[in-house]
Amino acid sequence: MNTNAILSVRNLKTRFTMDEGTTKAVDGVSFDVAPGQVVGIVGESGCGKSVTIKSILRIVQKPGEVVGGEILFRPQRHGENGTDFVDLAKLDGRGKEMRTIRGNDIALIPQEPMAALSPVHTIGNQLVEAVQLHRKINKRQAEEIAIERMKEVGVPSPEERMSAYSWELSGGLRQRVMIAMALLCSPRLLIADEPTTAIDVTTQAQVLNLLRGLQKNHDMAIIFITHDLGVIAQVADDVVVMYLGRVMETGPVDDIFHNPLHPYTKALLGSIPSIHTTSREPLPTIEGSIPHPFNRPAGCPFFPRCAAYMPGKCDRQTPKLERIGEHQSVSCFLHHEVAEEI
Ligand SMILES: Nc1ncnc2c1ncn2[C@@H]1O[C@H](COP(=O)(O)OP(=O)(O)O)[C@@H](O)[C@H]1O
Ligand SMILES: [Mg+2]
Repeated sequence: MNTNAILSVRNLKTRFTMDEGTTKAVDGVSFDVAPGQVVGIVGESGCGKSVTIKSILRIVQKPGEVVGGEILFRPQRHGENGTDFVDLAKLDGRGKEMRTIRGNDIALIPQEPMAALSPVHTIGNQLVEAVQLHRKINKRQAEEIAIERMKEVGVPSPEERMSAYSWELSGGLRQRVMIAMALLCSPRLLIADEPTTAIDVTTQAQVLNLLRGLQKNHDMAIIFITHDLGVIAQVADDVVVMYLGRVMETGPVDDIFHNPLHPYTKALLGSIPSIHTTSREPLPTIEGSIPHPFNRPAGCPFFPRCAAYMPGKCDRQTPKLERIGEHQSVSCFLHHEVAEEI
């Protein structure tokens, strides 16, 4: 692992156990986040992106459960050069230590800002409450911090917005308020779960620029989740490509875009619309559909849709995520022979 990392997720496994069967929503995910780094997690809907970050924050609800692996995180109180990691996987999700980490070290911009904001309280009330939850200051000081943060994320006339309700705001403004709320505690790790999916392309670009700027000014690390590789190219330093609860490939964005190794990454890149595509030409799609999580095939999860499928190999053994070259790692038998032990 990267000894510099503030977060190192190792072989994380999260399952949902129901009467109908067990879903391995996250099935051995590993990646590192260095201080100040933007890591993008990309993959089709349902591949386990949200469950991965909910596992890190320890907010997975029953019947979901983190059943294996390590979530090594370096909290602020251990100092910038501290070497002490806390394994979040071993903490009680509702316990004091985990609540402190959620309030002070790791902040989340959730996938559904409308659901995360209360419709019956003003924006101001919600921001002030969030500040006062973690800092012992009076209402007036909390209001000042809230207004300051809204200014920082580009909410126009923030003083007036304090008395507005979430449903009175446009999608883009609501997203900015969510970002302001996430920044209230000056986190060292910000997790953004598809923050731009629900907003139009122009606003999306503004929000991406904003997050990039905030990352620099606050020197915080960001985990950015999206199903859109185009967005990853704009914001991320490193990318983690997920498929059916597993990491298919990971490495620096430049390497992955110029030299994708996994057939799934290649297929994803092939389905991005490009300026070279002649108009009306149908976009390439990835053959087949994602199998139902209960009917997960044995072997590599991608083999039923893979163009380079090797019968007798890919359907029997599951390739491990192995380092290839200096920075890139891939779980594919086209590139190495190392299989997951059962
Ligand atoms: N509350 C839940 N109950 C049962 N299964 C769930 C639940 N939430 C997620 N899952 C399972 O976990 C998989 C991954 O979900 P999720 O992480 O939300 O995907 P995404 O990559 O779109 O964020 C889903 O396909 C589903 O099978
Ligand atoms: Mg999701």
